[in-house]
Amino acid sequence: MTTVTGFAERLRPQFPGLAEIRGGKPLAYLDSAATAQKPLAVIERMERFLREEYGTVHRGLYHRSVGSTKAYEDARTTVARFINAPRDSIVFTSGTTDAVNLVAWSWGRSHLKPGDQVLITGMEHHAMIVPWQITAAIHGAELIACPIHDDGSLDREAFRRLLATGRVKLVGLTWVANSLGTINPVRELTAEAHAAGARVLIDAAQAVPHRPIDVVAIDCDFLVFSGHKMYGPTGIGVLYGKAEVLTAMPPWRGGGEMIEKVSFAGTTFAKPPARFEAGTPPITEAIGLAAACDWLASVGWSAIEAAERELFSYAESRLAEIPGLRRFGTAAERCTVLAFTLPNCHAADIAAILDQEHIAIRAGHHCAQPVMERFAVPATARASLGVYTTTSEIDRLVDGLHLCRKLFG
Ligand code: ALA
Repeated sequence: MTTVTGFAERLRPQFPGLAEIRGGKPLAYLDSAATAQKPLAVIERMERFLREEYGTVHRGLYHRSVGSTKAYEDARTTVARFINAPRDSIVFTSGTTDAVNLVAWSWGRSHLKPGDQVLITGMEHHAMIVPWQITAAIHGAELIACPIHDDGSLDREAFRRLLATGRVKLVGLTWVANSLGTINPVRELTAEAHAAGARVLIDAAQAVPHRPIDVVAIDCDFLVFSGHKMYGPTGIGVLYGKAEVLTAMPPWRGGGEMIEKVSFAGTTFAKPPARFEAGTPPITEAIGLAAACDWLASVGWSAIEAAERELFSYAESRLAEIPGLRRFGTAAERCTVLAFTLPNCHAADIAAILDQEHIAIRAGHHCAQPVMERFAVPATARASLGVYTTTSEIDRLVDGLHLCRKLFG
């Protein structure tokens, strides 16, 4: 465990949010899949911008605004490079949910008609389900979900069968499932969907903190993610869209800066990405997101991936020691999320007991109620890992779970 311990210990001083001690117990933060703690590089960049550089963007002819505009647009360039995309294919949104809604409302409105299908997977969270349900109902289209196996992997045969009808116009799929940790082979699935004539939207919210992303290599039409899960701020997310696809999409929200010309007789619209960024954008947050991209790059993907792989396998083997513990998400390709239940102990009770030990996990349906239904449980407890997670925090989790067994077993 030397790699992972040394790696996390070196990074931890950069995360002031981890320093909290309660009742003599240090915080073991095991909820990074919900939201990650922030490194000083992000906090200080946002603070400097707010203290010394803050101004509006795209609207001011004075020096401060020109500087602000440059910082905001430079942030777009940084994010574009981070996922190997052209800069104008990056639309800033308020998060993953907002970005999926953008595609559902804009692309959906202009492309879906009665009889069409949108195919998602049985491991999606609500952000991929509900926007398409609403849009499909408006346009007379149908939302269908590809089943998953007992280990939480996608049923690839069913996926091919569902595509074969020729009715699927868009496939929406998560790269890493937030409730199971399953890693989907997004490149292969995208190729299969394209061969069937469907566009592909990838939810990379749980992938982006853990692995490098190359949208050109994947060849997806859309990819979305949030800033706050990748050590950046809340209130900012990204929609990547292929240039020709974004260009053909109508605006979804109207307002300032998304226009070319406005009169009471009618309005013409700006080209993407401005077309999809109505109103004053999340300027500080975009700059914070770029700082998070730079920070992740400076830590290095090979180091992150090696340490997280080692830590995940350590955590899995420690959890396997606990009698009666049931794991959810055991697909061959998985990462970062450790979902489980204990006999006679509701997930909420597990979380409450662990909280007494100052260990933070998430308990509930994880905004993925169909996944809970698939596995016939009301809720699971979920520990999730970040770059700062140590093996001793996993040991404390395991001790806490033994305590739960003692109290409820
Ligand atoms: N999707 C987020 C999670 O998994 C909110 O916790």
